[in-house]
Amino acid sequence: MPAPELRICLDVSDLDASLQSDVRRGLTAHPKHLPMRLHYDGRGSTLFGELTRQPEYYQTRSERAVLHDRAAEIADALGPEPVSVIELGAGRAEKIRPLLGALASAGRLDAFWPFDVAEGEVRDVLLELATAYPNAHLGGIIGDFTRHLAHLPDHHDMRLVAFLGGTFGNFTAMERSEFLGDLRESLRPGDWFLLGADLVKDPEVILAAYNDAAGVTAEFNRHVLYVLNHRLDADFEPDNFEHIALWDNDTATIDMRLRAMKPMKVDVAALAIDIAFSVGEEIHTGISTKFQPGELQNQLQASGFETTRCWTDEHGYMGVFLARAI
Ligand code: AVJ
Repeated sequence: MPAPELRICLDVSDLDASLQSDVRRGLTAHPKHLPMRLHYDGRGSTLFGELTRQPEYYQTRSERAVLHDRAAEIADALGPEPVSVIELGAGRAEKIRPLLGALASAGRLDAFWPFDVAEGEVRDVLLELATAYPNAHLGGIIGDFTRHLAHLPDHHDMRLVAFLGGTFGNFTAMERSEFLGDLRESLRPGDWFLLGADLVKDPEVILAAYNDAAGVTAEFNRHVLYVLNHRLDADFEPDNFEHIALWDNDTATIDMRLRAMKPMKVDVAALAIDIAFSVGEEIHTGISTKFQPGELQNQLQASGFETTRCWTDEHGYMGVFLARAI
């Protein structure tokens, strides 16, 4: 096998520029807001890993159960042909592993392309997988899946794009339709989309997952302020902010915020701005929408995808949807 091809769609200066403009815009807006993606740096990913092991945080366990128990069924549902798998936000590509295994044992894993902003992770995963799947073509895409979907590899016969972990729920309604539109545009009829989404359920179960007793979600939420201190030379005191997670039944959305517990003035040196907080003022730090299966299928349909299967875990908490580009 030749060395894996890397497609680099963004570089460090790109990331810095978008960080600066996103944070400037968000902290000077009313209400203040910060993008959710900022959380996932080294410490943030460690905290998120810890969160996935909390008893209240069902998402990771539920989706893992579906993908583990149904891997062979999912592979079968794709038909008899070889498949090239592209995983958006792959990270360490842990979630997709059972499906790669099922395809490989059926002799149908043509290629695997992890797609992630973190170049180091993509390189590590490719090294690891070269040993595990010596017969598969491997490549990596270093990019932002909200901006670089046009760069998906297109020399493969049948592609499956996987978007797992419930990250789809972190988009607003408009971002969801933009994402699905961009994705559909970069695929051909007959290509597949595998989507992991958190489903509407008892609000108590959902709220508990975002207010875990050990306080890991709270620390994860506050972590965004450490990121700003570190990357933009800001002087936030994260412990002066309280973690808030609200459930909005009308939009089936968890709304996460950080609430100032006293009046503060924060200097963001790299942006040369001072930000004032009144007591009780909130920064909106992200949403997580939960879906009714039928409604999600309609959204997929509206963007040119026909849902052919949907699997859930034993509690019906997480759904894994298989849809085909039409
Ligand atoms: C795994 C990205 C979907 O929205 O539940 C969890 C991220 N943020 N708690 C989610 C998250 C705070 C998570 N996603």
